[in-house]
Amino acid sequence: MANALSLNTVTLSGDGKSIEILDQTLLPNETKYLSLNKAEDIWEAIYKLRVRGAPAIGVTGAYAYFVLADQIETEDMEEFTAKCAELMEYLNSSRPTAVNLSWALNRMHALLLKEKESRTVAEMKELLKAEAVAIHKEDIEISRGIGSYGFELLQEIGKGAGVMTHCNAGTLATAKYGTALAPIYVALENGWDPKRDLHVYCDETRPLLQGARLSAFEMQTAGVDTYLQCDNMASYTMKSGKIDIIFVGCDRVAANGDFANKIGTSGVAIIAKHYGIPFYVCAPSSTIDMTLASGDEIPIEQRKADEVTEMWYRERMAPEGVGVVNPAFDVTDHDLVTGIITEKGIATAPFKESFEKMGIRPVEKFVDKN
Ligand code: MRU
Repeated sequence: MANALSLNTVTLSGDGKSIEILDQTLLPNETKYLSLNKAEDIWEAIYKLRVRGAPAIGVTGAYAYFVLADQIETEDMEEFTAKCAELMEYLNSSRPTAVNLSWALNRMHALLLKEKESRTVAEMKELLKAEAVAIHKEDIEISRGIGSYGFELLQEIGKGAGVMTHCNAGTLATAKYGTALAPIYVALENGWDPKRDLHVYCDETRPLLQGARLSAFEMQTAGVDTYLQCDNMASYTMKSGKIDIIFVGCDRVAANGDFANKIGTSGVAIIAKHYGIPFYVCAPSSTIDMTLASGDEIPIEQRKADEVTEMWYRERMAPEGVGVVNPAFDVTDHDLVTGIITEKGIATAPFKESFEKMGIRPVEKFVDKN
């Protein structure tokens, strides 16, 4: 099986007319790419998690903005701008929690608003294409940067480190490298032996199994000594003394350091505090939403009941009509967080001051106004 790091999560097609995404719902059994150029298909691919992970859906959003804007047939800049605003709203409605989607759409739209007075529609389309490509390239650099800071923490622990992670914040969740798994990839690039020097424990991550299907797949194909555990086994493993550090990704960080990540993350953080295990959040600075004072303001995506009652089972495994709770994310309180690793450095409490020192500021929003 090819190393997952060699797979492209999302790219623009050679002719620039469509988005190519790796269909992550089929992994690890099948490696299939989809070519998408219709708004509804892109929306569905994001909603159904064919492409997922906060930074990856940000890159998808940027390419989608360009590909769909390119299809608008008008020379009239006002009409073009109004149609772009509509498609931005529509794309943003596919998933509410990860701020990277609205961040990327806002960045594309901000460029349009800034340049539209002095450009033709055709010129504007070229600028939008270049901006989407830049967002894609930056994401690779940013993930590599997070990986380098995380690797410094691994070096402090030393070779043989036990790492736990939740959900998938690996290369599949970004343009390359990932966030929470980036320190592992950087360690391997620096000559660490995958079997001897690193031991990675992946929570399976109910209900959509991103840990089992994606993180375990990534680590396994990188040759790392990998263990899969059900979510309710995390406490057992932490108590056993095998875990030196926890790295998780995140979908949105509020100014006070509260953060949303895949459902189950807050429980992992609470257990880690109990056992005194350092708990780090890995986040591109674009995931830090300085417009939100605390995690109470982060919108939490609620998903359909059948993901809990039927998906992955040969037959339905819960009684018909039972009430189901299926939040896709939870919010972890900032006082459970040892540090937030960004491409600009590692933020520590008090987080707001730490973010401000790194130059992270609120960005103007055209969609996702809370
Ligand atoms: O629902 P998903 O699979 O998109 O959730 C993904 C996560 O929660 C990740 O940890 C987060 O997006 C960070 S990815 C670098």
